[in-house]
Amino acid sequence: MLRARLQRVRQRIAERCPPLLRPAISGQHPPGPRGPLSNISRMVGSELDFFADCRRYGDVVMFYFGPVPCYIFYQPSAIEEVLLTRADGFIKDASTRMLSEVLGNGLLVSEGNFWRRQRKLAAPPLRRGQIANYASQMVAFASKIQADLGDSSRVDIHAVMMQLTLEIVVKTLFDLDLGDGGEEITEAIGTAIEQLQASNRAYLRSMLGGVIPMTREFMQARDRLRGTVDAMIERRRQNLGDDLLSRLLAARDEDGKPMEIGQLRDEAVTMFSAGHETTALALTFAFILLAEHPGVYAQLVAELDNVLAGEPPTLETLPQLRYTEAVVLETMRLYPPAWAIGREALRDCEVAGVPIPKGAQLYFAQLHTQRDPRWFPHPETFDPGRWFDGLEQQLPRFAYFPFGGGARICIGNHFARMEAILVLATLAQNLRFEPEAKLRDIPLQGRVTLRPRGPVMATVRRRLPASM
Ligand code: HEM
Repeated sequence: MLRARLQRVRQRIAERCPPLLRPAISGQHPPGPRGPLSNISRMVGSELDFFADCRRYGDVVMFYFGPVPCYIFYQPSAIEEVLLTRADGFIKDASTRMLSEVLGNGLLVSEGNFWRRQRKLAAPPLRRGQIANYASQMVAFASKIQADLGDSSRVDIHAVMMQLTLEIVVKTLFDLDLGDGGEEITEAIGTAIEQLQASNRAYLRSMLGGVIPMTREFMQARDRLRGTVDAMIERRRQNLGDDLLSRLLAARDEDGKPMEIGQLRDEAVTMFSAGHETTALALTFAFILLAEHPGVYAQLVAELDNVLAGEPPTLETLPQLRYTEAVVLETMRLYPPAWAIGREALRDCEVAGVPIPKGAQLYFAQLHTQRDPRWFPHPETFDPGRWFDGLEQQLPRFAYFPFGGGARICIGNHFARMEAILVLATLAQNLRFEPEAKLRDIPLQGRVTLRPRGPVMATVRRRLPASM
């Protein structure tokens, strides 16, 4: 009786207090780790460990990050509500918005009508029909890299894949070679994003407001990046082609005005950074998993020998590489390169019946939802075979979402999927990697992407593809 009265009093006070404090004062919220300050230090210390620990509280978890209420939804139906059905009630979350320190107002972080217009401009070169033209370039770069990898040589698999996917994105979307400045841009993006991710300040700055200044190293890398990309844009302006950058340069708004240089730069930097590390990670994890699963590897090379008969893959043979595709899908299920995505509530609302105050942060973790035994039996097993017999069609929407979903679904999803299959086929046909460490012993890091903390050293073992 007393407790009920107390609850009513809390509820009444909560109704009058600022929205962000409402869950704490009313006490009406899903379970989750308590201690707003310890949550900050745990999450900044290792977001991966913090999210893994949260899973034990149930399908909806709530915690305070300092003064900010945060929710993690693991249920596909809740994820669908936010990313698809009621997407206009949300914007990107604070930690994604932090990326605008590097990506400016590029596609990944822009919002509203401005985002819609930019997406329309950037979409055509990445549509299914258009990316078909890139298949031969993807295979050519992969063939060149594989030919350079001598038998018994020792390499960092992750570095090899980063170099390869960078060359591919730079050539296909910007019609540039790495020598034309691509390498400098990557170095500068790498340093800027590294600084952004590594410095706990940037993270705190994003969640707790802009009161914490950025580091000097970060500012220097950002200036270097801006200078190099601006020079690249100027060069392309003199010599327009049919690539993504040329299209953005040629685009005109309703008043006939071209895009400003700052915006062009933001879109270019966004494509560079979003367009290569993610695919490189999918390939890196695929090769480590293949090394640890000889049965899967044997099925993969059997398909490659059977379909390709010693020839490189092409757009025509691509649809027959079904097991190769399943290896890519299964790798991204267990090791999603974008392991979690987030949104911020624009107004008070409900998600899966849970009241959410305006300004709350909502997270969806591919890494956990895609390992849920309700959707994937034996979820921890690497089993590409599960993708046959129409699994993708049978799954509830958002049980598998490595590319996100709804209007903000990855604009490069068809590109990345085709690239990963073609590169995997070209390389695995000719070689395999023998990593020095087991995947479970490779320390992983998760802020924007799920990636190995250090190099993934491996020995190259060449093979002779069977010819018919
Ligand atoms: C395996 C590879 C990739 C994965 C796993 C991946 C994942 C994702 C995810 C999950 C999102 C949605 C983020 C959100 O909703 O908050 C996203 C957005 C985006 N991705 Fe990818 N991506 C990949 C490859 C690429 C490639 C190759 C490109 C460019 C060619 C690209 C460019 C972008 C851009 C520009 C956005 C923002 C789209 C928008 O908001 O309109 N991604 N990606």
